[in-house]
Amino acid sequence: MNNVWSENVQGVMTLYLSRKLRFDDVFFEQYNQLFNIDENANIKILEIGCGPGALAESLHRWYPKAQITAIDRDSKFISFAKENISGIDFREGDAINLPFGDCSFDITISNTVQEHIEPTVFWGEQLRVLKPGGVCLCLSARKGLQCIAPCLETTATEKEFWKSIPQSENELEKYGVARYPMSEAELPASMEHNGFSDVSVGYAIIDLTPDASKYPAQMAKSMIEAMRQSDLEAIHSVHSDCAERVISAVNAKYDERLRLYREGIKQWDTSVSVTMILRGVKR
Ligand SMILES: C[S@@+](CC[C@H](N)C(=O)[O-])C[C@H]1O[C@@H](n2cnc3c(N)ncnc32)[C@H](O)[C@@H]1O
Repeated sequence: MNNVWSENVQGVMTLYLSRKLRFDDVFFEQYNQLFNIDENANIKILEIGCGPGALAESLHRWYPKAQITAIDRDSKFISFAKENISGIDFREGDAINLPFGDCSFDITISNTVQEHIEPTVFWGEQLRVLKPGGVCLCLSARKGLQCIAPCLETTATEKEFWKSIPQSENELEKYGVARYPMSEAELPASMEHNGFSDVSVGYAIIDLTPDASKYPAQMAKSMIEAMRQSDLEAIHSVHSDCAERVISAVNAKYDERLRLYREGIKQWDTSVSVTMILRGVKR
């Protein structure tokens, strides 16, 4: 049983809800163009470091004929995915020693995983399990834009709460988070250096602005709820006895954000993420 990531780095709902939005069907065209996958082919796709499974779930809708396997080291993510998402073979497994034979997949894909795994192993294992002519897709989060609504600013109660929680320095380093960061120039070079051919790069821009009229009310509300769940999950993760007051404060501010949305009082808060998409071929 390995719950290192889900208990110390990012919780199940934080990842699932934020990725469900980032891989919403409204953004399909952007991804599809860069993935350059035949939508009607009977291909075998492997997602590496799938977390609670939101990308695999979208891939299943977007490429209905594909046979999708998705692995992650974290047991909690895999049990959530198995319970909540159908049509995908979710398995616990390690990217540094993929539990699959050579030349088994047409596509390998990962989102925000590369920076946590030693590059020669990360690329090498994918090269091994891909069939000749197979494609490796590596999605990597880059700097985006964040603008917070005034009603969602950190409250005094939250500040007080977080001050009372002992934080050890380099907490994330301890769990091997982002040990191998690479710049926009280094990433494709690393992919090529580690054996992939025809490497190409593109960027998907995912704009999550609840007040934008292009988004239906349900999606706008999901954007606000995803932020609420992420804040609540962070509070629950520290197992403090004084959590109740801060939970009420957090709920109150997101309830207020939803009220403003319902009443059409625009805040124009936004989260724009930039995802670098690398595509390389095994020759
Ligand atoms: C930033 S999260 C991204 C999760 C998912 N791709 C998403 O976008 O929601 C990184 C994920 O990589 C997984 N991970 C890290 N190292 C791994 C390894 N060696 N083998 C398998 N999974 C790994 C973690 O458990 C975590 O789920």
